[in-house]
Amino acid sequence: MDRFIIEGGHRLTGEVAVGGAKNSVLPIMAAALLTDEEVVIRRVPRLRDVASQVKVLQSLGARVLHDEKQGILRIRCDDETPITAPYELMKTMRASICVLGPLLAKRKRARVSMPGGCVIGVRPIDLHLKGMEGLGATLDVRAGYVEASSPRLRGNTLFLGSSAGSTVLGTANVVMAATLAEGETLLENAAQEPEVVDLCHVLAKMGAQIDGIGSHCLRITGVDKLHGVDHAVIPDRIEAGTFAIAAAMTKGDLTVRGCQPRDLLALIERLRAAGCDVATGADWLRVAAPRRLRPIDVTTLPHPGFPTDLQAQLMALLTTADGISMIHERIYPDRFIHVAELHRMGARIRKEGATALVEGVAKLSGAPVMASDLRGSAALVLAGLAAEGETTVDRVYHIDRGYERIDERLRLLGAKIERRAGESQALSMAAGAGG
Ligand code: EPU
Repeated sequence: MDRFIIEGGHRLTGEVAVGGAKNSVLPIMAAALLTDEEVVIRRVPRLRDVASQVKVLQSLGARVLHDEKQGILRIRCDDETPITAPYELMKTMRASICVLGPLLAKRKRARVSMPGGCVIGVRPIDLHLKGMEGLGATLDVRAGYVEASSPRLRGNTLFLGSSAGSTVLGTANVVMAATLAEGETLLENAAQEPEVVDLCHVLAKMGAQIDGIGSHCLRITGVDKLHGVDHAVIPDRIEAGTFAIAAAMTKGDLTVRGCQPRDLLALIERLRAAGCDVATGADWLRVAAPRRLRPIDVTTLPHPGFPTDLQAQLMALLTTADGISMIHERIYPDRFIHVAELHRMGARIRKEGATALVEGVAKLSGAPVMASDLRGSAALVLAGLAAEGETTVDRVYHIDRGYERIDERLRLLGAKIERRAGESQALSMAAGAGG
């Protein structure tokens, strides 16, 4: 397993461009199952999760051409006989559950393994199932598989919500299923994340009839057939946000290009509250940080609230703010595995249920730490960049699931970070799950 060796204390300066959004690409790839025409996806980042989703689609009869250099995927599903998405492939990635809705809508039957468990907490799929049942599917959960069938899904009025609010992939699944259902589906409490909006735009380009895109209420009128599409996915707001926090953390001055600052308003507002200078244009943002940051309070919420996918990185930042900050995690109450590793670097964090109190220290000190989930590993890398001395981040395959060549790109900005190859890749592949 690869690891990163980081020499801390170097400011990040210059410019960095963000890639396409992982959490857009993965459901859009699943949408290719809704048509037998070619689906072309552009701006595809080179990530492990994309490679895993390619395997899932191939197991479902899709022909996939992946031009990794150009970031283009060409997917065509002319063999519609397979209906099983096997555990071996599904366990590596949560987003693979998105094949359920399209399979059911197009092939009338689906046998989909429950997706992999993830260290960020319990991640049920009850709302996905409730949505499919609401559209008239017959469901059975047996031996770790969801078995679903319906001669033709029927539109319905559905409310999809948990105590944490809306569901991103649940919304994606139900919207995809409803595009080919008979009649009208009214989906209340739909997720408004930019990645869901991106998927809806793709489906609309494929011929789906969806009103209310970007709102909490989607009205989907089923059609008989969807056709091919050529689409460039939106920029990755979480990657952009991670670089922005990295700039603040290293007292740097960084311009993040090719992003959509309007998707990051909650982060921008919190960075300003902490004392950072943040300037924005239509597709860029620039972050410059003072020597000491002010403490702030943050609550993670569904979009447009502060994203849970930036909570760990923001916590790393606040470990060296001038006072006590409070972080309340409303989406995944157990998404705090990074806390123990940050402690190893000298951070002072007290966790009470879903709340963490972060008491800023003068400086973090480099230490050997272990990555255990995607965003938590990003937080450890940021902490290492700002710490005094050397930090080793073990098991960086987690970070490779969601950030393309992060080490090379950080080096270009002035970071001292090196990747060292470790033990067998096979082990690392087997261990990763989440997203
Ligand atoms: N929930 C349920 N039942 C369900 C589905 C969700 O109770 O059937 C709950 C979850 O337990 C959680 C809340 O609803 O408390 C929201 O979960 P959601 O379904 O929105 O999460 P997701 O769709 O599985 C996506 C992202 C995550 C991101 C969350 C929240 C992808 C591939 N994954 O997951 O991204 O944290 O939305 O924004 O889009 C990551 O990229 O690192 C990552 C984990």
